[in-house]
Amino acid sequence: MIIDNIRAQFPILDTEVHGHQLVYLDNAATTQKPQCVIDTLTDYYAHLNANIHRGAHHLAAEATERYEAVRRQVQQFIGARSHEEVVFTRGTTESINLVASSFARRYFTGDDEVIVSGMEHHSNIVPWQLAGAKLRPIPFSDDGALMLSAYEPLFNEKTRLVAVTHVSNTLGTINPIKEIIDIAHAHGVPVLIDGAQAVAHLKVDVQALGCDFYCFSGHKMYGPMGVGVMYGCQEMLDELPPYQGGGEMIEDVTFERTTYNHLPFKFEAGTPSVGDVLGLGKAIDFMQELGVDNIAAHESDLLAYATQQLMKLDGIRIFGTLPVLQKAAVLSFLVDDAHPYDVGTLLDQLGVAVRTGHHCTQPVMDRYGIPGTVRASFAVYNTKDEVDAFIAALEKIMVLLK
Ligand SMILES: Cc1ncc(COP(=O)(O)O)c(C=O)c1O
Repeated sequence: MIIDNIRAQFPILDTEVHGHQLVYLDNAATTQKPQCVIDTLTDYYAHLNANIHRGAHHLAAEATERYEAVRRQVQQFIGARSHEEVVFTRGTTESINLVASSFARRYFTGDDEVIVSGMEHHSNIVPWQLAGAKLRPIPFSDDGALMLSAYEPLFNEKTRLVAVTHVSNTLGTINPIKEIIDIAHAHGVPVLIDGAQAVAHLKVDVQALGCDFYCFSGHKMYGPMGVGVMYGCQEMLDELPPYQGGGEMIEDVTFERTTYNHLPFKFEAGTPSVGDVLGLGKAIDFMQELGVDNIAAHESDLLAYATQQLMKLDGIRIFGTLPVLQKAAVLSFLVDDAHPYDVGTLLDQLGVAVRTGHHCTQPVMDRYGIPGTVRASFAVYNTKDEVDAFIAALEKIMVLLK
């Protein structure tokens, strides 16, 4: 199995928590980092640190070359047509805010609607509200499937954009985004995909999908925090005004007037997080060496096994009950009447790290009429033994909670 020996590459997995071996099942919040990514960061600061693009010296030239090489690597990783369509940001949140702010300035007229799904992360809700849009959510059924029959009727002359998550961070649902994109385009409406929970688990090809924007974070795919990507197709990016003003993004500045740099620099104001971008490149290497399909297959096995084991326990209610192949590595549940926070805290005492609460998807909680869930989420380094440890811990605490 390709997964053999992977754990040894993640030093943090050796940690003991409250006297127990750590079982890290909070991967949808952030994945752990392999040694090669950690080494890339320390190596950058030890041997390469320089500000990019404008230095006349060796370090600046070398750092610039490596930074721009990662842009091409990302282009290849997501199947973009040009490296100029890859904009580095601080993460998915900043990527979506960038698009919302620029898109609204270019296309909003004062009476504007954005179609989202009912399962969006707050990062794909609030930026559109801040930009002045009214949101029209696509509802989803009890099992966590989007109700596509309710999607098309949401379009009208005020619809400016469709902004939908590829994978739900709360329910695990893999949304039929190709269909969603095709329908939007048939109405002449562009589409933004929030790929925060997808890129670590699925092969993404933005040209095959035909999306106009695709946003994701490095830290959810084995890379560093503080770096993310906003992919935008060139036709769209050419039309949008810059997001932030500052150094790098200009061509010429006078006190009367500024002209802007070409793509992608128009959208990258100020000093970027160069070391983190290099770390992202190394994370992509790590994933590609394993093979994204192999990662997906391993996680699918784990999800199937964990779901099956969890369902054997009395009093468990799972949220997001689609067949495993229609889900990514997320398992959300409640235990009887226990508050999710209590379950999470007790699991932590036994070394099991899960997330509890609304997972920044309050509308999903409202949809089910619950305060939150307990969420276990898997990555390539998790094992069936860890699932067993998680289930055994849960059984123990269920006795305590009775
Ligand atoms: C679906 C989804 N979108 C957006 C985000 C925001 O990502 P970040 O905090 O890395 O900007 C998250 C993070 O959990 C997410 O799960």
